Amino acid sequence: MKRIRICSASEIPSNGMKSYDSALGVKVLIANAGEAFYAYQGLCPHQDVCLDEGFFDGATLTCHQHLWQWDITTGAAVGLAEAPLERYELQHEGGEIFVLQSSALKVSELFKGVSDAAIARLDALARREEHAGQTTLYELGDPADDLYILESGRVEFVIGREDRTSMAGFMLRKGEVFGWAALLEDHPRRIARAACMEKSSLLRLNGEEVLKVLADDPMSGFLVMRQLSTLITKHLRSSGGK
Ligand code: FES
Repeated sequence: MKRIRICSASEIPSNGMKSYDSALGVKVLIANAGEAFYAYQGLCPHQDVCLDEGFFDGATLTCHQHLWQWDITTGAAVGLAEAPLERYELQHEGGEIFVLQSSALKVSELFKGVSDAAIARLDALARREEHAGQTTLYELGDPADDLYILESGRVEFVIGREDRTSMAGFMLRKGEVFGWAALLEDHPRRIARAACMEKSSLLRLNGEEVLKVLADDPMSGFLVMRQLSTLITKHLRSSGGK
């Protein structure tokens, strides 16, 4: 895990917050509450608004734009907020604040519980990609060879062709997996168009290569397949299926 210096602790006001552009490639918010420091994503998960322009009373962080709120100790959504904040592991040493860069694989719902050895193999196979906003990742009907794990940014999905399209949702939480059809048999085709709506960082894994790693570690493979079926069920429910 890579350690990245963000700032000196003395730069953060007592029970206050400040955000920084970081070597993670994203803005990071550092907040102080009493003796403790916390590190979170610097932009609101709702829209691209800097969270340090909001309000912080030492316990609850509020985005000034539409008043989404989060518990500063956990990043959990409070009140109106519809998504939690991404939290970074923070180290406070010698008056300096650092965050640890962790792989999105570790926090992914799909790979939850998978052995460290399998995660390490998957991490080695993953291609890390950075995309600018308005970049198409795949179109409806493209071959579904690879799956993606979101590290940062926002990806939107649209179903249908040309003028007969409809929004199928978006992803913005680190570790969210999409393009999981790459793990299914018979080389399925994409059923939606996926595009980065802002600068986004992704891990890209070939479905066949993932299956080989899982075949070598049946317990991990069982967990991933069980979690994949939960993901598919959620998708069917949200798109009105059974
Ligand atoms: S932009 Fe932050 S709550 Fe809407």
